[in-house]
Amino acid sequence: MENLLVAANWKMHKTLQEAEEFAEDIKAAKAKASLLIFPPSPYLARLSALLEGTSVEVGAQNMHAEEKGAFTGEISAAMVKSCGASRVLLGHSERRQHFGETNASINGKVKAALKHGLKAMLCIGETSSERESGRTMDVLRAQLEECLGGVSAKEAGRITIAYEPVWAIGTGKTATPQQAQEAHAFIRKTLSGLFGKEYSKTRILYGGSVTPENAASLFREKDVDGALVGGASLDVGKFLKIGNAG
Ligand code: PGA
Repeated sequence: MENLLVAANWKMHKTLQEAEEFAEDIKAAKAKASLLIFPPSPYLARLSALLEGTSVEVGAQNMHAEEKGAFTGEISAAMVKSCGASRVLLGHSERRQHFGETNASINGKVKAALKHGLKAMLCIGETSSERESGRTMDVLRAQLEECLGGVSAKEAGRITIAYEPVWAIGTGKTATPQQAQEAHAFIRKTLSGLFGKEYSKTRILYGGSVTPENAASLFREKDVDGALVGGASLDVGKFLKIGNAG
């Protein structure tokens, strides 16, 4: 198994100057895990340039499925690539909740990202009412099947999954290591079913109130291959602690 991957989802936070300072600090530091930053899109080119030649990757938080056109305010996969970014985060629950994204629209984005050679990190996860009514695994299966529909086994090699229970995002209510492990094992089995046995190696990150305090216990679980970190990723010290927790 590859080493852990710890990703920072900054959401709509930080000025360009703050982002540059963070990148300089990360460059000077060491982490056991591979690191990845999803900054706001206006900073993609600058951060990619600052981190060039390091092992820290940069990715967009979202993109449009179309190649180009009259879509004011949107960015395309080719634009993300041309900024030097290697990855894109897709289907985050905040995109689903506030911007009307659906499994079908996310599927279009996943296919466009892969077509342009980007690595796509697909976010999936159940709401609290779905968990309480015992539908967690059904929801995860449907999200995987629908968001990854039409993706070839070859392209699937560039997919990473982030399991983010909606009830755990920004709430301080982290999933227990057992809850995370149970979901990750199910996701791994579902991916193998969709794409073949070798996709049991796909990295599956946990996201939702990850902190320097709880990261190690999550990383101890067999199928937890890293973390997607929101709030705690804004502070470089906390982010590095999580990157060294495994
Ligand atoms: P959080 O966010 O760490 O602040 O819960 C995680 C995410 O939304 O990716």
